[in-house]
Amino acid sequence: MKKNGYSAYFCPMNISEVFEPNRKQTLAITTLFGVEDLVVDELKSLGAIDIEKGNRVVHCKGDLKVIYKSCLQLRHAIRVLVYLDEFEAAGPEELYDGAVKLPWEDFLDFKTTFSINFAIHSEHYSHTMYASLKLKDAIVDRVRDVTGNRPSIDKVNPDYQFLLHISDEFVSIYLDASGPTLNRRGYRGESVEAPINETLASSLVKMTGWDGKIPLIDGMCGSGTIPIEAVYQARNIPSQWYRSKFGFNTWRNYDPALMAQVREEAKAKVKDLETEVFASDISEISLRSAQHNIKNARCENYIQTSLKSFENLEKPAEHGIIIINPPYGERLDPDDINNFYREIGDTLKSNFEGWDAWIITSNKEALKHLGLRTSKRIKLYNGPLETRFVKYELYKGTRKGQE
Ligand SMILES: C[S@@+](CC[C@H](N)C(=O)[O-])C[C@H]1O[C@@H](n2cnc3c(N)ncnc32)[C@H](O)[C@@H]1O
Repeated sequence: MKKNGYSAYFCPMNISEVFEPNRKQTLAITTLFGVEDLVVDELKSLGAIDIEKGNRVVHCKGDLKVIYKSCLQLRHAIRVLVYLDEFEAAGPEELYDGAVKLPWEDFLDFKTTFSINFAIHSEHYSHTMYASLKLKDAIVDRVRDVTGNRPSIDKVNPDYQFLLHISDEFVSIYLDASGPTLNRRGYRGESVEAPINETLASSLVKMTGWDGKIPLIDGMCGSGTIPIEAVYQARNIPSQWYRSKFGFNTWRNYDPALMAQVREEAKAKVKDLETEVFASDISEISLRSAQHNIKNARCENYIQTSLKSFENLEKPAEHGIIIINPPYGERLDPDDINNFYREIGDTLKSNFEGWDAWIITSNKEALKHLGLRTSKRIKLYNGPLETRFVKYELYKGTRKGQE
């Protein structure tokens, strides 16, 4: 059978083998566009093997311990999925026929609940919700026919969360180990307008190459996501350290002793912060939200917050990294947003010589008004918005026109 874009190596296993102890499962780690390489590096360090990069996904193999570690520690991922099966189905009826053959009774009985998420990109499935309903019917019918009882759906707190992925006629079904998506670290209670996804924030920090030894500033911090993720990274705090529930907690092979060991091993690597992290914003509401979130994330001893306009920021050391996620100006007059970016450029030139500045924005036109020479440019998406994450090295002679 033609595979769904994966190498033949990632041959799906028999669904009933998912609970075999020590079996290396085939995993799909979903992520954001442009950060796949970061996930590859993370998976290597967590002990996954046979790692293969895809588009917004990284495939690999790993046992239960790798699954637990991945859910607890991956900073740059969205979901940890265990591959269950794959088949071709050119429409909802064929999807039902393929899915009803699988031994769902290995997972489910009348006491267990499940839910289905889906990601469908196929002209064979014009009603994506209908496709997921057909999978649900197949699962329920199969379990009822084999056991005499039917499992029930729980969309909020299911025991088993499945993911249905369809690309053209290729159907893949996964078991979701993460539960709520991994960007939801749990510290963000109060939100400002346009908060950045935690996974993206963490990836931005990583991409700057910040080593946790020189100061880091977010001068337009909004809800404080970038500084929080920076502290977590520098201190080796697992991204999901304060999360109490993962998808795998309700699987019938859940091993609490193994999870305790995974947590202990991660805890042993936590270290102190060797430098200072600063978060400031011009808006009182934003700063209050950042302070609330920083406290929730147990980072209040590591991040200095201040109510300050970007133009008034000064460098606290000779070298450091400044990251900003400024307004993109979709609702502003182009002249106003271009001027705003020009002022950002002026502040960076005059107040941050010796620093690296990184800016993420979807506004390519406004970026030109910074008046700085670009030294790196990375394409990313902030939600649906195509953005550039751009680096400026603020050394003497880096102003445009001084080359
Ligand atoms: C897109 S939001 C940042 C979101 C943030 N990364 C987060 O995760 O919540 C842009 C922020 O820039 C702030 N801002 C706008 N103009 C500013 C200025 N001149 N100085 C400092 N902050 C400013 C806004 O108040 C807003 O909080």
